[in-house]
Amino acid sequence: MRLILAPMQGLVDDVMRDLLTRMGGLDACVSEFVRITHTVHGRGMWMKLIPELEHDAKTFAGVPCTVQILGSDAENMALNALEAVRYGAQKIDINFGCPAPTVNRHQGGAVLLKEPERMLEIVTTVRQALPEHIPLSAKMRLGYESKDLFLDCAHAIENGGACEVAVHARTKIEGYEPPAHWQYIHRIREALNIPVIANGDVFSLDDYIAIKAQSGCDSVMLGRGAVRRPDLARQIMLYEQGQTVTEMDWPEIMHWVRLFFELCCIKAGDSKYPMARLKQWVAMMKLVYPQAHVLFEAIRPLKGNDEIRTVLKAS
Ligand SMILES: Cc1cc2nc3c(=O)[nH]c(=O)nc-3n(C[C@H](O)[C@H](O)[C@H](O)COP(=O)(O)O)c2cc1C
Repeated sequence: MRLILAPMQGLVDDVMRDLLTRMGGLDACVSEFVRITHTVHGRGMWMKLIPELEHDAKTFAGVPCTVQILGSDAENMALNALEAVRYGAQKIDINFGCPAPTVNRHQGGAVLLKEPERMLEIVTTVRQALPEHIPLSAKMRLGYESKDLFLDCAHAIENGGACEVAVHARTKIEGYEPPAHWQYIHRIREALNIPVIANGDVFSLDDYIAIKAQSGCDSVMLGRGAVRRPDLARQIMLYEQGQTVTEMDWPEIMHWVRLFFELCCIKAGDSKYPMARLKQWVAMMKLVYPQAHVLFEAIRPLKGNDEIRTVLKAS
């Protein structure tokens, strides 16, 4: 069994990866996508987006962080993947699921699900360029508009030489609309010989148990659920270990909230970043914790990091 923190651009950056992997239960995480267009990114860009590369591609808790790339030019993706490896990447993942219009207009992300042959070309080219010891994986949705090609896409990823595939069980046009179609993941799992990681709408321990049962997968990727309920991975770990599952109470969550804020300040100093990130996270936690509503209302009007720190200390 493996629990993986999903890549989430604009939400799970290095600080959030650091925090959530410290909180426990996660076996791996994935960087936000690094968009590949016409250039080969230099060291500065890789280190800025994935500072874990400085530390053996692991978070401070020692959890491996995969580098995710997104693009459509197979050769240039291969060159960039190699460059990432040069700066410390230990594993590369290819994004075939991003729904963003700009990305799709440039033929990257989910739009490639319409063309499994191009997916095959991309995976094959990147695989052939990478040193043998560097694993290559991919992440896909079930299709762009329809699900007709979902098995072709999964086969393309396997035939291109990927060692595993994560499946977000929705098409691009389904966006994030519930439900996620977990039974399709089961069909992919039955059809492929490589491990399949189930993803989509796991917000609670019960969802985890259900996705495993319906998909037949051992490994599960947690996205928004791991942010809304930051002890979700820990709960799942306890469950899998046959231990009593206890939820973190709000005072304990607050300990992590304060740490998160301080880690943001260490990263970005007295900029808008710490408060923007804190507000974003607390707003998401409102869906789970009533106390997060109170905290959010208290920090919402604040404009300075010192004021926020004072409120956090008193909360
Ligand atoms: C804000 C946000 C950003 C995302 N960014 C990425 C990304 O960079 N790469 C990727 O493969 N998927 C990305 N995704 C998709 C997630 O990795 C995941 O597949 C999706 O959220 C479904 O899982 P969940 O229901 O557990 O959140 C993103 C999702 C969200 C909500």
